[in-house]
Amino acid sequence: MTIIKRGKFLTVEGTEGVGKTTNIAFIKTWLERNGIEYVATREPGGTPLAEEVRALLLAPRAEKVQENAELLLVFAARAQHLAQVIEPALAQGKWVLCDRFTDATYAYQGGGRQMEKSTIATLENLVQKSLRPDAVILLDIPVQLGLERARGRGELDRFEQEDIAFFERVRAAYRERAGANRHYRIVDASQTLEQVQAALETHLNQLLQETL
Ligand code: TMP
Repeated sequence: MTIIKRGKFLTVEGTEGVGKTTNIAFIKTWLERNGIEYVATREPGGTPLAEEVRALLLAPRAEKVQENAELLLVFAARAQHLAQVIEPALAQGKWVLCDRFTDATYAYQGGGRQMEKSTIATLENLVQKSLRPDAVILLDIPVQLGLERARGRGELDRFEQEDIAFFERVRAAYRERAGANRHYRIVDASQTLEQVQAALETHLNQLLQETL
């Protein structure tokens, strides 16, 4: 019987306009170059049901969305995504590259909406049990610079419509978590693309070394 080594769970985080899409494309190329089988996915979303929940979460609406309703929708999508996509891929030895995960909940619902961390932790334990990312890449940028980039993209979703103070709290929450969790890798995303990608490559090579 061959024992399959569990894959690595890598997530990418940051506030609006940090360049997640470009840098995730770079990480995919790195994975391919290193012959690593992977699944690329995103949150909220990643399965048909979870993508429907994403659309509910992001749509601007006149009705006020209750904070608890938002939090529960985020974790409902996550439960589905974990069972259908993330857990099976890791068990098959594939790496999972996820555009946002629970660190975004601590940042947006915890920081942005100022919800209790302990409430988020309760749902995290319920939905994920012991599963946590092996590495979280935090692309960090001054909020104003990121918003200028993101807001050039057209229609704003429900989160993008928040004010600058909201995003300052989101960024502060991410940075606080990065300081307190050793699996975080923080990358200064205000540098040139070449510098950002060189920093990413260093972190990825380190992660690969740890798995050998
Ligand atoms: P994005 O994929 O374009 O970054 O959009 C996802 C939005 O959802 C983003 O504004 C952050 C928000 N979000 C949360 O508020 N909580 C979460 O747990 C996740 C995963 C995302």
